[in-house]
Amino acid sequence: MPATVIVGAQWGDEGKGKIVDLLAQHSDVVCRYNGGPNAGHTILVGDETYKLRHLPAGILSGKDCVIGAGCVVDPGSLCEELDGLEARGFSTERLHLSGNAHVVMPWHLAIDQASERRLGKLRIGTTRRGIGPTYADKSYRLGIRVQDLLDPKILRQKIEVALAEKNLWLERVYGADPVELEELAARSEEHAQRLRPYIADTSLLVDRALRDGKQVLFEGAHGTLLDIDHGTYPFVTSSPTVAGGATTGIGIGPTRIDSVLGVAKAYLTRVGEGPFPTEIEGPDQERVRELGGEYGTVTGRERRCGWLDLVGLRYAARLSGFTALALTKLDVLSAFAELPVCVRYRLPSGEETADFPAHQSDFHAAEPVYEVLPGWEEPIGEAEELSDLPDAARRYVAFVEEHLEVPVTLVGTGAERERVLSSSGGVAASLAH
Ligand code: IMP
Repeated sequence: MPATVIVGAQWGDEGKGKIVDLLAQHSDVVCRYNGGPNAGHTILVGDETYKLRHLPAGILSGKDCVIGAGCVVDPGSLCEELDGLEARGFSTERLHLSGNAHVVMPWHLAIDQASERRLGKLRIGTTRRGIGPTYADKSYRLGIRVQDLLDPKILRQKIEVALAEKNLWLERVYGADPVELEELAARSEEHAQRLRPYIADTSLLVDRALRDGKQVLFEGAHGTLLDIDHGTYPFVTSSPTVAGGATTGIGIGPTRIDSVLGVAKAYLTRVGEGPFPTEIEGPDQERVRELGGEYGTVTGRERRCGWLDLVGLRYAARLSGFTALALTKLDVLSAFAELPVCVRYRLPSGEETADFPAHQSDFHAAEPVYEVLPGWEEPIGEAEELSDLPDAARRYVAFVEEHLEVPVTLVGTGAERERVLSSSGGVAASLAH
């Protein structure tokens, strides 16, 4: 049975949660390999809406769920998420949390917030959840890991050592309030007690699942263009968001991955600062935002909206080696008579390119070159198969396939779980692509 990585192909918010939720029903284990509470998945099951931050979407289908070593965990926020799901009748017993994941501490939140304030107009527009400072401490080898929660004495010692430096930084560099040791140590111990039963050797667990022939999904958080190495730096997150991150973030070799499903919206959104060549100017931007409900799951911020960018999408397919693509929220485009799709960028030199610029200054100045496809201007929510879609909608999907040289195996036509059309072979076949 294959191991499949699911990756956001744009700037995040592609609707991965819903696709993972759907595929999780055909899987045994669902793993998160990067990021932390900066990720947000909204999943609609019947009339109920679930907003997940740390937890893999498979938790709603009662599957084994893994939060891997590549993730960062905010203990307070994870405890709230667990309590919230349990209060709604879900079991969280099958969650497994890597002892090597790093912990987001209150000073990370304080530094993220103070640093964004200080950057002013140059800010990154982070989710202010402490993500960058936590990954920075991890690389600096100063971090606190989930396994430190196993021993109250070690935990307190590590907090004390870290605070000696972090409080100086907070007070002197940022003019912010220091973090109080006793109160934090007591709160951390409470969270530790709640989280201890979940801590496990998750690399071993996933290896065994794969050896036993189980279907394992690796759920990437955020999107390709937010990748720390290959994204639109510095307007990126601090973890690898490409498919390769699944192997390091979980602790399995690249040869264990069988397929990579990219997830892209039929248009494009971005939260936070940074260049965005296909950002829509004028009232259509607001129309897309309203129709698509484009407001952040984590921060509630308005998302910037743009037309589909195939230059960016081809780049994403290259970086992660997509074997198939899920195209979500096609229904949002039903309102438009004409659909511009960006097929190339025009660079300041006048040259046109279909390849994503390797240098930031080219990308910042890139102008989109559009092909305008006809809209279908009718609702598509009732379609039960891809062949039920209006001709123009099918043409739109085929246009994406041709440009990416990747088959589109899933198409989202509405918010509900069942509003996903699949190519021949059904949803499970997407796992085998
Ligand atoms: P951070 O991850 O909070 O450090 O934020 C860095 C950048 O990534 C900001 O532009 C955020 O808006 C963006 N970002 C982080 N996570 C997500 C996500 O899940 N969806 C969309 N944007 C995100």
